[in-house]
Amino acid sequence: MGEFKRTLITTALPYANGPIHIGHLAGVYVPADIYARYLRLKNEEVLLIGGSDEHGVPITLKAKNEGITPQDVVDKFHTIIKKSFQDFGISFDIYSRTSAKIHHQTASEFFNKMYNQGQFIEKTSEQYYDEENQQFLADRYIIGTCPKCGFEKAYGDQCESCGTSLSPTELISPTSMISGNKPVLKETKHWYLPLDQYEPWLREWILEGHKEWKPNVYGQCKSWIDSGLLPRAVTRDLDWGVPVPVEDAAGKVLYVWFDAPIGYISATRELTPDWEKYWKDPDTRLIHFIGKDNIVFHCIIFPCMLKAEGTFNLPDNVPANEFLNLENDKISTSRNWAVWLHEYLEEFPGKEDVLKYVLTANAPETKDNDFTWKDFQARNNNELVAILGNFVNRALVLTNKYFSGRVPERGRLSEYDQETLNALASLKGEIEKSLDSFRFREALKNAMDLARLGNKYLADEEPWKKWKTDPERVQTILNVCLQITANLTIGLEPFLPFSMEKLRGFLNFEKHDWSMLGNTDLLSANHQVNTPELLFEKIEDSVVEAQIQKLLDTKKANELAQSRVNSAKESIEFDDFGKMDIRVGTVLEAEKVDKTKKLLKLKIDTGIDKRTVVSGIAEYYKPEDLIGRQVSILVNLEPKKLRGIDSQGMILCAENADGTLSVVSPDQKVNNGSEVK
Ligand code: 2FM
Ligand code: ZN
Repeated sequence: MGEFKRTLITTALPYANGPIHIGHLAGVYVPADIYARYLRLKNEEVLLIGGSDEHGVPITLKAKNEGITPQDVVDKFHTIIKKSFQDFGISFDIYSRTSAKIHHQTASEFFNKMYNQGQFIEKTSEQYYDEENQQFLADRYIIGTCPKCGFEKAYGDQCESCGTSLSPTELISPTSMISGNKPVLKETKHWYLPLDQYEPWLREWILEGHKEWKPNVYGQCKSWIDSGLLPRAVTRDLDWGVPVPVEDAAGKVLYVWFDAPIGYISATRELTPDWEKYWKDPDTRLIHFIGKDNIVFHCIIFPCMLKAEGTFNLPDNVPANEFLNLENDKISTSRNWAVWLHEYLEEFPGKEDVLKYVLTANAPETKDNDFTWKDFQARNNNELVAILGNFVNRALVLTNKYFSGRVPERGRLSEYDQETLNALASLKGEIEKSLDSFRFREALKNAMDLARLGNKYLADEEPWKKWKTDPERVQTILNVCLQITANLTIGLEPFLPFSMEKLRGFLNFEKHDWSMLGNTDLLSANHQVNTPELLFEKIEDSVVEAQIQKLLDTKKANELAQSRVNSAKESIEFDDFGKMDIRVGTVLEAEKVDKTKKLLKLKIDTGIDKRTVVSGIAEYYKPEDLIGRQVSILVNLEPKKLRGIDSQGMILCAENADGTLSVVSPDQKVNNGSEVK
């Protein structure tokens, strides 16, 4: 780590409007956790900071849709997220949240300091305002037609159909999503961070000073800087967030991307009175773990804020990952296209490390990657079970069988033994090199090479064939295998913490520091090991098939929902509707129509007359359950002969996504013949 004394690791604060999925894990939390565990094993001073991002427009929109408060929304998801991280074993030193008082205080102080130092520009501009609800509309609250592609439901900040970034005033026929009315333009004052003024400094600091950053990160920064930075508003007209702490700012809050990264500071402050040491001492290294959509905020905007404030360290590295897809499709919370962490933990109890392993082995470090359940199964069965689990199991079982669980003495070493031990010792450097440069998939592969080494050695030496003729040789072979096994508990600890704890239990071996990795005498002769259990178990086809089916069901439900949207009919005049004579009537008699599965013959008192109607609801209602019920009936529909019966009208039903029908009835008793209009 060179010149630094300690490391502060932050992880992107997930929005508290949905649970955590594998995309979040692979991009941010799994690599950050591996890194923190690695540094802790090296006895370095390190903090791993996390928390929920609880502000922003989408949370207020969700609350509005569900008829609850934004605080209700974030309380619910913060609890789910926090618990799932904890159960999964992300080793946060603190997992806080931005609706916490200490955060509001910290963010206000930060803003104030910048404000008092004159680092904002105050600007009045015209923004859309909803007169009915008397509020300014955030970009996401406005929809209209995209000027580029004509998509009718483009948002004020972006068209999700063609991807163009927009400003709300570019939308054709803008509509407020709150009232459905046309918004009006009205003047409002905001505070801006003049990013343009920081351009020379950013060029120097990033483009000259941080050439070691990952190419995807460096490249994105360069393209942002080269395309010219503009002043950015850091406040919004909204009633959910950190209130702007200056006079004359009623109804305004800090922009969520201004307050969220300050959340890292607030959480550290909540954790320890010594927080300033982690943020201000130049001997501390600051590392942000994020996904690629957060690069501009962590590499450009937040550093400008930190620089402007003046007393904080700047990030030393921002090892952002690309995206993880799921079964060849973009992960999406709204389409429910995800593997949700809390569901995984329930459906795969005790398999936390398997998911960590797969997400690391397949991490989207340099390009987008795909998670598939088949790959999940294959990596578990062919790598964790067949290589790692199999090796340690055989080493321990044979030690129990031949030596009553006592580590045997190592005798004279063959050339192959020596080579194997040398390879073991040299893997430490390899793993470190990868971890130190945030190449976690390579690091995991290097650490698994320890197990591959052991597995191959054991298969080549075949001690079970030598036991009868050369028991002394078997002593040496098993000693070497056990030394490799003990090393595994150190080398794989950052990646597979639950399993390595188990393995230490089998070996009767304490947790050891990273510095001991590569040591070929970790276990002394005669040390007693325990009888092992299986470290990993095979995942059967039926298990992954069920998961794939679950996703197929989701896909089907999404398609149905989409087809409902697409089948929305064109608007009609009221007169068109008025042509339909819909009445409430009571079912007097009901019976199944002979030789049909679907049809019921009903006699209905329509208030006008008593008539016969044939209805295709026999699969959903028993005749006797309908008698006496009020239903809606279209009475002026042309009569039709169905199975020889004259049907005079039609019962109205709602069709559910799965095709089931339910009759539409008034929610309290009304007179027969009442018009439905
Ligand atoms: O993209 C997101 O999910 C944001 N909530 C990340 C915020 S990171 C930090 F700034 F807090
Ligand atoms: Zn468009």
